[in-house]
This record gives sequence, structure tokens and C-alpha cells, in this order.
Amino acid sequence: MLNVRVETDNDVTTIYHINAQGFGREKEAEFVNHLRDHHGITLSLVAEYNGLLVGHALFSPVRIEPDGAGFNSVTLTPLAVLPEYQRRGIGSMLVREGMEKIRSLGHDIIFLVGHPEYYPRLGFTQAKPKGFRCEFDVPDEAWMLLEAVKVDCEKLERTVYFRPEFRMAMESS
Ligand SMILES: CC(C)(COP(=O)(O)OP(=O)(O)OC[C@H]1O[C@@H](n2cnc3c(N)ncnc32)[C@H](O)[C@@H]1OP(=O)(O)O)[C@@H](O)C(=O)NCCC(=O)NCCS
Repeated sequence: MLNVRVETDNDVTTIYHINAQGFGREKEAEFVNHLRDHHGITLSLVAEYNGLLVGHALFSPVRIEPDGAGFNSVTLTPLAVLPEYQRRGIGSMLVREGMEKIRSLGHDIIFLVGHPEYYPRLGFTQAKPKGFRCEFDVPDEAWMLLEAVKVDCEKLERTVYFRPEFRMAMESS
């Protein structure tokens, strides 16, 4: 049975393991711990499969400038599923449940830099045509958003800024 829930203190070690195994390196796992230590997490979800933690999704706040419309948004990263549990719909379920929770927390847009072949099937579309540019230099097709609530984007260019921890992670990659 598959169940998605909010992380607890007891999950921290397993979440590290899921990210390290999912990405095949420790960078993302370290990043998650760093963000948690610096109170940079909006929502951290785990997927339990028959009582075993097998997936993780992390949402953290972003800042949008200029902020005339008062956007209250987050980014989804990282998203990881243990290799032996991939392709069973666990990643998709984490994203869908995450979107519902993010909406209920009052956030409007979920941004991410991710696989252009994976996220569109979950409703993500390119963010640049909607007037949102990423503070980092990333390919247009990888820079995506999902509106948790319908937002009224005026025809104004805005820049999305991540928590400072992301800059450190990007520089070390
Ligand atoms: C990306 C990831 C979270 C997807 O989790 P999952 O539980 O396997 O996803 P789902 O079962 O919901 O969806 C699986 C589908 O997505 C596809 N998919 C998975 N990763 C993909 C990728 N990187 N690019 C394109 N398609 C991908 C699979 O081929 C599969 O397609 P199918 O249903 O047509 O066979 C998982 O593959 C993972 O942990 N990857 C390593 C870490 C990573 O790259 N995270 C994303 C960072 S942007």
C-alpha cells in the first residue's frame, strides 16, 4: 500500500538514503539536510510503500521580484524515489499530493528546474512564456511551473530567486 505523509524527525536518516540512492550521489542528500538545518523547508513529504520509506519530495520558498502581484510560491526540489521502486507511480503521487498540500498552505505556484520529459505529464509547463525567469542560467525547457491556484500573470517579466542554499549547491555542481 502506498501512502504519502509529511516527514517526521525519525525519517531524516532514511530521507538522506533515498536521495543518495535516487541520484546516485550524496550532493542532493546533503543539500536537503543543509536546507532543513537552516529552516528552509516549506513542506517535506515521504512516500511509504508497505510501511517502508521509498520516496521523498521537498518544497522550499522562492522569492519573486518585482512582487507587485504578491505571489507566494515554492520550488519542488529534490524529488527522489529509491531505484528499485521507480516506475510504479510513486514520484507522480508525491508531486500530486504535494501540490494539494501546497495549495492548502496558501501557495500559488510551484517552480522547478527538472527533466522536461518527466514533469509535463504532471501538468508542469515552461515558466518563461508566462513571464517568470530563473535567477540561474538554465535551459528554457527545464524551467517549469505548475499553478496550484490560477494566478493572474500580467504581461510583466519577473525573476524567481531561490534560497541562498541553492546558490551554494549550484556553484558546487
Ligand atoms: C524522477 C523520479 C523521481 C521519478 O519517480 P518514479 O516513481 O519513477 O516516477 P513515476 O513512476 O511516477 O513515473 C515513471 C515514468 O516517468 C519516466 N521517467 C522517470 N524519470 C524520468 C526522466 N529523468 N526523464 C524522463 N522520464 C522519466 C519513466 O520512464 C516512467 O515512464 P513510463 O510510465 O512511461 O514508463 C525517479 O526516477 C528518480 O528518483 N530519479 C532520480 C532522481 C531524479 O532525477 N529526480 C528528479 C530531479 S528533476
